[in-house]
Amino acid sequence: MTEYTTHHFQAASTYTVSVGYDKRLYPYDIDGSMAHARMLGHQGIISQADAGAIVGGLEGVRREIEEGLFPWRDDLEDLHMNIEVRLHELIGAPAGRLHTARSRNDQVATATRMFVRDAVANAQTALRGVQDALLGIAERHKDAVMPGYTHLQRAQPVLFAHHMLAYFEMFDRDIERFADCGRRANVLPLGSGALAGVPYPLDREWVAKELGFDSISTNSMDAVADRDYVLEFLAAAATTMMHTSRLAEETVLWTSQEFGFLRLGREWVTGSSIMPQKRNPDFAEIARGKTGRVYGSLMGLLTTMKGLPLTYNRDLQEDKEGIFDTYDTLIATLEAFAGMMQTAEVNEARMQVAAEDSSLLATDMADYLVAKDIPFREAHGIVSTLIDIAADRKTTIAELSISEFKAQSLAFEEDVYEVTALASATARDVPGGTAPKRVAEAMAEARARLAAREAQA
Ligand code: ARG
Repeated sequence: MTEYTTHHFQAASTYTVSVGYDKRLYPYDIDGSMAHARMLGHQGIISQADAGAIVGGLEGVRREIEEGLFPWRDDLEDLHMNIEVRLHELIGAPAGRLHTARSRNDQVATATRMFVRDAVANAQTALRGVQDALLGIAERHKDAVMPGYTHLQRAQPVLFAHHMLAYFEMFDRDIERFADCGRRANVLPLGSGALAGVPYPLDREWVAKELGFDSISTNSMDAVADRDYVLEFLAAAATTMMHTSRLAEETVLWTSQEFGFLRLGREWVTGSSIMPQKRNPDFAEIARGKTGRVYGSLMGLLTTMKGLPLTYNRDLQEDKEGIFDTYDTLIATLEAFAGMMQTAEVNEARMQVAAEDSSLLATDMADYLVAKDIPFREAHGIVSTLIDIAADRKTTIAELSISEFKAQSLAFEEDVYEVTALASATARDVPGGTAPKRVAEAMAEARARLAAREAQA
């Protein structure tokens, strides 16, 4: 580490420089500039010859960037200045006309909206990948029964597939949240100028069409000052990461020796340097951990923006690192989960044993008594007593003798032994319930929904 001096800071005034990260916007910036130059040419604001020279020059810039030959310069601050200066070096005078009727303020908002639009599409694709993996594992273990939990206490038997489909639904809403964000992001700010509009006869609609925007912004001040499309992306990503983190936590629990429900494929676990028996679910843990930085980016930008007067302020440059990091984190996390779930092995036998735990069948025992005309409150008390008796004898209710049952209530008969985990799940035969028939229908419906989304994409 070099020694810190105030002189050092002043000499290398990198504080305001963003090109190190915003160069990532180059494809959008170049497309935006090409559309702008063409429109200026059509409108006679610049000559067609200059417009042609600019478009050709920008193609050259793109090639240089893609080939790693572009001479990025920190002293030019951001990617927009870098590209414009380089364009000038490549084509000379006409380059000076590109920035006619434009400001970096509407330029950067345009490029960022285009980034968000692509980020939305890619997030949705990655989400569908996780949905497909979840549906796949559900379909492969369609009859497996497991304990459903409340308060992380065994509560009622459910189908493993039902549990997986719960995540399918969460991720499905996430896809819709991203769609919603993408719809509002897809509005063209270019033509707003620095803040007040521009004194040239632009054809903004043409530019919008050329760049694939649905519409043009309706207020120039809003268009350059606002970043809520970034915030909406970050919020949708934070929600998706939250859902993924819950799945990650369950993966950590289920792969533990205590649960033993799940075993992850070799490539999704790591060993310990000192404990040879370990199969650590590091991907799941890191996904759970990375959720924090995504929330951080959301909180960071909300806080950055809260006191800004209209319109553009340089603070807004702080939107970039957060959205890039969030996008990268989100995609990597979703891809890891898709892979992890495709190869995970389910231990149906372990789940079954856990689901037969007597405390899980308590509600069904009470319902059994209710069916024999015992009031529910009374039935609840009788079953509590039976659970205590079974616990004292270190056994399950199902192991108690018929006389032990009858000692608590004469309503018990031999058919009490038909109260099993599968019977319990099968009885939950309402729409949205865990009865195998309902879950089979839900899986088929989910498959169809996923296929329809894929066809739309
Ligand atoms: N790099 C800047 C940003 O991301 C571009 C806009 C700069 N505009 C200005 N007037 N300084 O916000």
